[in-house]
Amino acid sequence: MRKWNYRWGVVSLLLGVSIVTAHAQVVEPTLPPEPPKFDAQSTPIFVGVKDILEFKSLPQYHEPEYMAAFEKAGLLPPLAERLPKEPMVFKTGNMRDGIGVYGDVLRHVIGGRPEGWNAMAGQSQGWGGIDTALFECLTRTGPLFQVKAEELEPLPNLAKSWEWSEDGHKLTMHLVEGAKWSDGVPFTSEDVMFFWDDAVMDPNVTPLGGAGPDTFGEGTTLRAIDDYTIEWTFKAVRPVQFLYQMSSASFCPQPAHILKPQHPKYNPKNTYEDFKNAFPADYMNMPVLGAWVVTVHRPDDVVIMRRNPYYWKVDEAGNQLPYLNEMHYKLSTWEARDIEAATGGGDYSNLEHPENYVESLKRSSEPNAPSKLEFGARTIGFSLNLNYAANGWGEPDARGQAVRELNRNLDFRKAISYGIDRQGLGNSLVKGPFTAPYPGGLYPASAFYDRDSTVYYPFSIESAKEYLKRAGLADTDGDGFVNFPASVMSGANVEVVVSADGDGATNRNIAETIVSSMEKIGVRVIPQFVGSNSFMANNAAGQFDWAVTRNGSELLTVTQNTQNLAPVGPQTSGFHKANAAGALDLLPFEEDLVNTVKTFLDSTNPEERVALMKHYQKVYTENVYSVGLTNYAAALVINKRFANVPVGMPVFLFNWGEDSIIRERLYVPTDKQQDYELTPNTIPGKPGKGEGPVSQ
Ligand code: GLA
Ligand code: CA
Repeated sequence: MRKWNYRWGVVSLLLGVSIVTAHAQVVEPTLPPEPPKFDAQSTPIFVGVKDILEFKSLPQYHEPEYMAAFEKAGLLPPLAERLPKEPMVFKTGNMRDGIGVYGDVLRHVIGGRPEGWNAMAGQSQGWGGIDTALFECLTRTGPLFQVKAEELEPLPNLAKSWEWSEDGHKLTMHLVEGAKWSDGVPFTSEDVMFFWDDAVMDPNVTPLGGAGPDTFGEGTTLRAIDDYTIEWTFKAVRPVQFLYQMSSASFCPQPAHILKPQHPKYNPKNTYEDFKNAFPADYMNMPVLGAWVVTVHRPDDVVIMRRNPYYWKVDEAGNQLPYLNEMHYKLSTWEARDIEAATGGGDYSNLEHPENYVESLKRSSEPNAPSKLEFGARTIGFSLNLNYAANGWGEPDARGQAVRELNRNLDFRKAISYGIDRQGLGNSLVKGPFTAPYPGGLYPASAFYDRDSTVYYPFSIESAKEYLKRAGLADTDGDGFVNFPASVMSGANVEVVVSADGDGATNRNIAETIVSSMEKIGVRVIPQFVGSNSFMANNAAGQFDWAVTRNGSELLTVTQNTQNLAPVGPQTSGFHKANAAGALDLLPFEEDLVNTVKTFLDSTNPEERVALMKHYQKVYTENVYSVGLTNYAAALVINKRFANVPVGMPVFLFNWGEDSIIRERLYVPTDKQQDYELTPNTIPGKPGKGEGPVSQ
């Protein structure tokens, strides 16, 4: 160990000397600038887990009148038979406005489109919280923003309780007993094991959220003990952090009774592609465990969801949840979501396009504004991810391969980082204190952030150019753009494609800024905008050079999706995955990051975990692992007629706001209810193509 340090000392000393003598124009890295002050507009009321929910049976249960009528007509079994033995009960004390009333609709607007309903095979439903309305997971993390630090642990959900074995290697989970899918078929450990064996562990299936064997720790196993008990076995001792990975979207079981008959393992006639496509976008009433069921989908128009007659959660008065009869997803654009929510055409937005902030603020301050708008802390972060795989992931052509070699060169990465004016980038999105320059790595809003461990390469075109030179790049043909050395690509201009999600204005604007910043330092970058679904698919398949990426919650919470912090497994990193043979070509500093994250995952010692993340931050930012761009605040915009909106809810922390807000408890007081239901007095019908809701 000592020898190692000594050698590095000498190397950096030598490097230091050469910098001073030959390249005096290079600006040295600094600490990151202090972000301008911007506090959340309100803070949550912190509570314990038991203050939010419990599982117990109640003396009686209630449902909306129209549902009771279905029951009376023999179209639904009695409510008590549809509910589990002990439903989940939300505590009144944690509901801002208390017990609610039935009726009305939550009108969402999204830019995404449903690919189909096979989430087990990774099909997207269009985002914007459609998936969290439909699917329920073993645990739940969105609402944790209001859980006090001493009790911070994922909330029970389909797993209603769990215990660790004495040696800490085994975790026994008890599933909610008697819960049913929305078509009335019981939910059991068979559904859980099907998801584990035939999605998580099956290399040919990537479920929505991307869970694979590494998501729950190397060598982890799962087995069913009986219909309502499952047992995990971990290599590590009490790795409580995996409970975070059992939430949305990594462990949300899908209906085995519907999916199994299409899965190639059980149906040899089917290919994996057949399986994936067996539940296309016009397949309706797909059985779910969530509060609402998709009953109508009119392409490019709307998705309508109706209350799930079998939902397994109630309030303390025994009212079956959700309170809202219907959910709409208007299929439009993400920017339209902001505008519609501000003007009353929609009910909800995670205001996350800074370009819309000024207008939205103006609207919401008008005396009869339909919605309220509340800013949280800077929990949104964008990075420029570089493709690090030089051993075949995504099968690049010669140019793509040459770019990946460059991406793996620290001097080149430093050049990019020096070349970006992060302050200017933030201001180009919105002026004011909303944005802050982001060096990469953990966010200042993270509990694990340490400024002193953060290395910042300040904006300096001179330094950027110097580092391009050190990376062996020069403009040999005098057209203003650097060329590869003669031995690579016959000395052609370096050309990098930066891909971005074309469905998002902010993503496109950031990509344009990258292009013009790189032009100023002499690197030719070509933007490529594709729709969200293709953007994500290309990224997952390794088909990109650089990708403008809105980061996941791992850089904020560290405990949620921890495995995504480094390539701890062949598939866990967003920008460095294994090739077809399963091999990862990790750079030495990546090995360091991987070991750090692995040790973190196995550690339950709080001080050690803090120290590990400081090291992670240092190695990440020093090496410009990803090029951090901007951190900014986002706001919740919600129509004023809704009650039970939790205080101080961030639109992004452990999960997106649509999960954190606990939509099953939202309601509209009787005097404020509107006639927004498009399919009133209906219940979900039979699962299948050409089906829809049924009325009496
Ligand atoms: C998209 C939106 C987010 C949020 C999520 C929920 O990514 O941009 O604001 O609604 O969907 O999945
Ligand atoms: Ca050139």
